Amino acid sequence: MTKGIIISGGWGTRLRPLTCTIPKALIPVVNKPVIERQILLLKSAGIKNIVLAVSVMDDVLKEYFGDGSKFGVKIYYTDEKNPLGTAGAIKLAERYLKDDNFFMLNGDVILNFNFKEMLQTHERFKGLGLIASKVVPDPSRYGVLITEKQSNKILKFLEKTEYSPPDGKYVPMPINAGVYILEPEIFKYIEPNKKMSMEHDVFPILVSEEKLYHYPIPGIWKDIGKPEELLEGNIQLMNDLLASSDEKKENLIDDSLDIDGKALIYPPVTIGENVVVRKNCRIGPNVVIGDNVYIGANSEIKDTLIYNKAYISNNVYIEKAIVSDNCLIHEGVKLKGNNQNLVILSSCVEVLENLSIIAPSNTSLSVCHHEVIRSDLT
Ligand code: GTP
Repeated sequence: MTKGIIISGGWGTRLRPLTCTIPKALIPVVNKPVIERQILLLKSAGIKNIVLAVSVMDDVLKEYFGDGSKFGVKIYYTDEKNPLGTAGAIKLAERYLKDDNFFMLNGDVILNFNFKEMLQTHERFKGLGLIASKVVPDPSRYGVLITEKQSNKILKFLEKTEYSPPDGKYVPMPINAGVYILEPEIFKYIEPNKKMSMEHDVFPILVSEEKLYHYPIPGIWKDIGKPEELLEGNIQLMNDLLASSDEKKENLIDDSLDIDGKALIYPPVTIGENVVVRKNCRIGPNVVIGDNVYIGANSEIKDTLIYNKAYISNNVYIEKAIVSDNCLIHEGVKLKGNNQNLVILSSCVEVLENLSIIAPSNTSLSVCHHEVIRSDLT
């Protein structure tokens, strides 16, 4: 029976400081950890046995997912002392995956499509592997796939640095979306206990042997490599969930919300459990608020992610920011990013009264966990 493996043991360096306290795989995306959403997609395609290839902060992941019973699946874990790369990580799971084909997912991609259809395509093509592809306007940051139109065969697999467009100008191209279906024969291409990458060491060989195909995925796709992509991915998924909701909702708001009649919500907004919003607040658009969050009177929040247990006092202004769990934002504070650049507060940051934290025009501004901010930051 088809199984699944999610590789979720990388350092997540580009998402620091958020990943200093939360493993990348547990970073919330519309209020659910990114790999919990993947597990639910696997489950809805009938895949009930899932291996998590964990390494960095494995204890935190094991505590959250346990044996999987809370999520209606069976979860197994690999024992990877130091990150062995994307191929080395799955080699450790060979004993769980050696009997049938399996899904392999990079645990840092946001998607929302029917995995069953991908599996049917793989069974039709009969390759050794099927790579989910997505056409993106700027392929320069991803692995690019050169493909044969008729057969969907991959002719070339070009890693980030290897692709340069003919006239120097990037055009939309299909890229590697980080979701694969592989046959167990793949394990012959990976040496045990050696750091190896699927993208560098395995896929180029499969391409030369003409055994790799691609499947253009429908719907949204975003990898959460960097904080700016994380915000964008949350907004995309929120819109996608709203569009597919039965009642055509404008927002995803938990019934427990305690909101003053004079507060305003500008869609799309997601609000988790036990959130309090006081009078004259203006929330949205493009805001995701976690559980047990307090937002004091006259505060305004837009284009922002707020994680669980944040306390935001009165008269606070937040725009283009990520406020991680347990942050304490005092009265009159202003947090403001611009364009692609965000203000990012890691877990348990405190910002004292009437201070401003403003991202510069060319980069995001991050604050490490447990810091107390006592003067303006720009
Ligand atoms: P950066 O350090 O910011 O590049 O992030 P990352 O460590 O997550 O690396 P990358 O974005 O290339 O990883 C893609 C996916 O593979 C993520 O889900 C990672 O958790 C996972 N991953 C990367 N390297 C390893 C590894 O050595 N072992 C395991 N088990 N997973 C890995």
